[in-house]
Amino acid sequence: MSPHDSKSDSNDAHRDVDYGSYLALESLLELQRPRSSPEHPDELLFIIVHQASELWFKVILHEFDALITRLASGDAPASLQAIKRINGLVGIVTNQLSALDTLPPQRFAQFRGYLGSSSGSQSIQFRAIEAVSGLRDPHFLQALTEHGPVPPLVQRALDRPTLQDLFGALLAKHGVTIEKIYASEEHTTLLLLAEELLEYEQGFARWRFLHVQLVERIIGPGTGGTGGTLGAKYLQKTISQRFFPDLWAIRARVYGGR
Ligand code: HEM
Repeated sequence: MSPHDSKSDSNDAHRDVDYGSYLALESLLELQRPRSSPEHPDELLFIIVHQASELWFKVILHEFDALITRLASGDAPASLQAIKRINGLVGIVTNQLSALDTLPPQRFAQFRGYLGSSSGSQSIQFRAIEAVSGLRDPHFLQALTEHGPVPPLVQRALDRPTLQDLFGALLAKHGVTIEKIYASEEHTTLLLLAEELLEYEQGFARWRFLHVQLVERIIGPGTGGTGGTLGAKYLQKTISQRFFPDLWAIRARVYGGR
């Protein structure tokens, strides 16, 4: 019987587990701690959207471990499954941003001071996702050290091959190149995988775009965050960063000059 078989889980040892204890709800629901005094009615939403995003970042990073193992083993169908799940998760985290569209600037200003020097640019998990996805350009590497030394989670991601490298190695194992999969109809799973990786890039850029719009909507275009020195202008630049330049370049080669 496999350790994940439901029958093995229903034995006596787990009888005391219920919804609340399994999910550690008592601890989880203790973790939203608005700092404004008197408590600003919008601060709870602000905290929860950020905390929920960090939880999704955690599971995205977890799923990247599976994706990397599958890409490295050359298993295209399993890699396709993994990147599809990641794309679903990125969609969820992106859609959550809209919860803050209902926060007008003057209301945010009423509790912004209580955030101290917090800034989303200090999100270690976000930087780890960018690193594991393959960002290595100087603009990104500069942002990594904006708040001190590179955290171990990010360093671990930087030490791994980029997704683009892993995908290239997978194609080599299958004896094809990016050009070849785009030129023929034969390697369908490989082509779907390439397209799904591009979908990931687009999904991530969608988060960046909606986030920068949210920032401009709530604090304006010229300003930096509460503690960050990067600001909305920095965020605008990040939209053009690419995880898979080779997959974009193939478009230029196939359609360029037409
Ligand atoms: C009221 C809504 C929000 C405002 C006004 C805001 C503001 C900002 C600003 C100004 C920056 C640029 C860095 C800086 O100057 O501090 C930034 C970066 C960032 N924020 Fe937000 N943010 C908001 C919501 C969110 C949410 C819900 C998340 C989800 C976790 C988030 C995550 C991030 C991340 C990861 C960065 C770094 C992005 C990068 O470097 O590409 N922000 N934010």
